[in-house]
Amino acid sequence: MKTVLITGGSRGIGKALVQRFLSEGYFVIGTSTKGVTDITHENLLVVQLDLMSPESIRNCADKILNIKKTVDILINNAAALWTERVGDTMELQVDILRKTLEVDLIGVIDFTLRIVPIMSQGGHIINISSRQGSLHYVHEMKNPSYQISKAGLNMFTKVLSCQLKDTITVSSVHPGAVLSGLAAADANMLPEESANYIYDLAISKSKTGQFWFKGEPFPW
Ligand SMILES: NC(=O)c1ccc[n+]([C@@H]2O[C@H](COP(=O)([O-])OP(=O)(O)OC[C@H]3O[C@@H](n4cnc5c(N)ncnc54)[C@H](OP(=O)(O)O)[C@@H]3O)[C@@H](O)[C@H]2O)c1
Repeated sequence: MKTVLITGGSRGIGKALVQRFLSEGYFVIGTSTKGVTDITHENLLVVQLDLMSPESIRNCADKILNIKKTVDILINNAAALWTERVGDTMELQVDILRKTLEVDLIGVIDFTLRIVPIMSQGGHIINISSRQGSLHYVHEMKNPSYQISKAGLNMFTKVLSCQLKDTITVSSVHPGAVLSGLAAADANMLPEESANYIYDLAISKSKTGQFWFKGEPFPW
């Protein structure tokens, strides 16, 4: 039985991913900030993870290492967004930048580097990024700290793909404008549809170090 590790498996896209992988016969390790989800399944293990806290990251990774399973797929899906709206405009705010980078970038990197040693050869790491982190598509400030963190996450995908060469595939994914917690006003995709595209990519033998949307290359 193959194992997938999905951060932020309690809601939105992450929850839809947990359900899809369970239905495909995977053993699923999901995380949430409180260590609970409303899905119960014999092949689901839920572990507490708060990416804001280095201690929580260490404890979560240690628990996963202790169950002695090889992780075939890691999906770094968990993220948070704090609005920087001031009146009618967005303003980059350093206090928000610090916590966004902690959760959406540094925490993800810390967690990933702890999991890499127990990943299988031929495994796949998927970083759920965003169109908002694409330099190609930035023409205005939307959520500046979030934009900066997702651009950084994309660079992590590239850097890690160089480090891991061809042993483990590393991908960034734009999941679409999805009707979930971090939805933009124009969101129109169901979490299940987004999860289906991510699932197909996760099990594919795709080129490492790429950015994807709906199974097609997406501009950085
Ligand atoms: N929705 C969109 O349109 C869209 C577009 C582009 C990219 N994305 C990306 O897609 C991913 C999922 O987004 P979503 O809309 O499904 O989000 P969501 O519904 O808000 O769910 C966020 C998940 O992340 C977890 N989480 C939040 N803060 C965390 C923290 N400090 N430490 C660890 N886990 C934390 C939450 O756990 P709890 O339930 O415990 O709070 C939850 O499981 C994110 O990476 C997001 O940036 C989404």
